[in-house]
Amino acid sequence: MEHATQVALTRRVLDFVDRNTTELADAVYFNPVSTYTSLEQGERERELLFKRHPLFFGLSCELPKSGDYRADDLSGVPVLVVRAGDGKLRAFLNVCRHRGAKVAAGSGSGKRIFVCPYHAFTYDLDGRLIRLSAEGFPGLACEDLSLVPIPVAERHGLIWVQSIPGGDIDVDGLLGGLAPEIASYKLDSYSHYKTATLAKDMNWKLVIDTFLETWHVATLHRETVGPIFQPNVNVFDAFGSNGRLVIPRRSMLQLKEEPENAWDFLKHSAIVYTLFPNALLVWQGDHFETWRSFPVGNDTAKCIAEAALFTPTPPDSDKERRHWERNFDLLMRTVDAEDFPVCLDIQRGFGAGAQPHITFGRNEPALGHYHGSLRKTLGLTPSSG
Ligand code: FES
Ligand SMILES: [Fe+2]
Repeated sequence: MEHATQVALTRRVLDFVDRNTTELADAVYFNPVSTYTSLEQGERERELLFKRHPLFFGLSCELPKSGDYRADDLSGVPVLVVRAGDGKLRAFLNVCRHRGAKVAAGSGSGKRIFVCPYHAFTYDLDGRLIRLSAEGFPGLACEDLSLVPIPVAERHGLIWVQSIPGGDIDVDGLLGGLAPEIASYKLDSYSHYKTATLAKDMNWKLVIDTFLETWHVATLHRETVGPIFQPNVNVFDAFGSNGRLVIPRRSMLQLKEEPENAWDFLKHSAIVYTLFPNALLVWQGDHFETWRSFPVGNDTAKCIAEAALFTPTPPDSDKERRHWERNFDLLMRTVDAEDFPVCLDIQRGFGAGAQPHITFGRNEPALGHYHGSLRKTLGLTPSSG
């Protein structure tokens, strides 16, 4: 992040603390409960977000070498992402052209070919079918039976995939002006530490919502991360449909005593970037975490959330590994053990019919921006706010 931006953000934080306030939206935002319960909205989301919109897939370091691959069905469409022989990523529908079995599962490395487990149709890293029995399939040609390519893009150490064929992914357009800032983190040199996959009985958007304000930190997380962060101070900026939510550590107040040109804003912050529509890139002071969230089938009250931790360099001592393990453990204790149980209650509460909408206060601007962006992308009428 440019130092001028770091200074500007630090000043905003210090000003909010001085005035005992935080970033405020123009108005209260009323979010319809149907956002989380409507089958019709769920169907639109699966079509317009999880099929047609490019989705953040992961970091480049998860597939560093030619022959590395990851198969993933989380969007509802089976996809296979591979680093091909030329070092570039390819993505395909993970659907064998014979009778449709998945040609790869999970993730791994060192592949030179993918052999379908059903009848051994064999594809190269570019998705080309290698051979076809002339006796069994007269008149058919390998060239016509390649795996179906889907758009993939890799920029600034991040990967995006679109689950249906056609078109290109415009990363700059997707990032809405965040590209230079994301590039400055040099994520292409990071290392993957660990991923956890969590199945929850709640709408997929509650996973994102829980990160989009930190007003609740002083209460819900008082035993975990409460002591670390300045209570109820956020700085928020929108970048197209994405957002940047700054969560200052209490230690940021020390910067008042230091000259501006020495301010290290990043050391004293967590930063939640929303990667619209279903992912987060989270700076945690000395490393990054990512979250992705997906609906499960057509059930609006089931989701799969995936959390991953990435380190600036590969851990090369037990001390470092313990440090990252403690970080991952704190993440799970905070989000899985404290946030998600409340989200499950919220989802059950939606069914109680207590109210037609939930309310995002002016001090929760990132939530209104996120849900406003979702409604726009889904072609739904804006919520009154
Ligand atoms: S379905 Fe793949 S080889 Fe038959
Ligand atoms: Fe939380």
